[in-house]
Formats: sequence, C-alpha cells, structure tokens
Amino acid sequence: MLINNDTIIKDDDSFIRTKSEPVELPLSEENKQILRELFQYVQDSTDEEKAQKLNLRPAVGISAIQIGIPRQLTAVIVHEYDKNDEPITYQYMLANPKIVSRSIQSAYLENGEGCLSVPEEHDGFVVRSARVKVSGYDLLTDQNVTIRARGYLAIVLQHEIDHFSGVLFYDHIDPKNPHPDVPGAMVI
Ligand code: CO
Repeated sequence: MLINNDTIIKDDDSFIRTKSEPVELPLSEENKQILRELFQYVQDSTDEEKAQKLNLRPAVGISAIQIGIPRQLTAVIVHEYDKNDEPITYQYMLANPKIVSRSIQSAYLENGEGCLSVPEEHDGFVVRSARVKVSGYDLLTDQNVTIRARGYLAIVLQHEIDHFSGVLFYDHIDPKNPHPDVPGAMVI
C-alpha cells in the first residue's frame, strides 16, 4: 500500500469522519501488515531525504482511517526527554487502544496541533487531558500494554484515538474563543 501525502485521506472527504471498528485479537496478518505500514510511514516521514523523495509529510502518528481503513489501528513515534532530561523514544503499533482514565489537569500545545488529514492550518488551543492511561495491544512488543502517558505523548495518543470516532483536532477549537485561558493547564 502506498501511503504518501497524496493518498492520505483529507478532511474534504467525509470518509475521514467514519467511525473505526475494533479489530479482532490475535491480529490477522492483514491487520499486522496495516500496522507495519502505518509505523513505517511515521518513521520515514521524519527522515528528511525519504520524506522528500516519497512525498511524506512529517508526522508523529497516523491512524488507519487516514488510509481509508476504518479499524482501530494506529502508529505513534514520539521523541521526548525523560525526567532526567535523557532523550527517550515512545513508539507503538497499537490495536484497539482505549483511554481508560484521564487527569483532571488539562494540557495543550502552545502552537496548536496539525494532522496529515488537515492540509490547512487551524489556529487555536486543542485542550486535552494532561495525562491519560491507555490500554491496548501493541504489535511492536507483541503484548497488551497500559501506557501511562503525560504531556506531548498524552496529546498525541488522544489525537489518534479521536480519529477512531471521526473527530479531528479542530473540532475541539471554539472559533469564537480559540485561545482560552485554561487554569492550571500544562502548556507544551
Ligand atoms: Co491526525
């Protein structure tokens, strides 16, 4: 399957709003392959040379609906720093990830969010939970995982899981008040 900036489904196609179904576990070979290709996209998209050659837009995550498959599959690669300021990479190939709990504290990206399915910029804070606990099956490690995510990783996971409900990041922005004051929010 060819995944690039031309084949990814954009928000002018109402299919992007389709709800994604959970997949059966253990994963079929077909669903494993989809996850591998999604992961490969994210990996290649941040390699400048490959991105240019293959027409990839840089991303930290992509979900199956974005390539026309309404199944709860998503790949995420986030480079972060841990508590000791050491670089750490969080990477997942998730099937049926689900948010099982979330913090009261909010978080948002100061410069707003972007999405492979959204060509235009949408200015505004996307206020999400600062911490989420996500359960699902991870093909990368071949196990059921519970991810305790905070900050940027938490935002990325919420963004991707939103895709399963057909929700896009700008749905969370109030055009009348795109930059609300959010008391106590973690600003990233
Ligand atoms: Co997106």
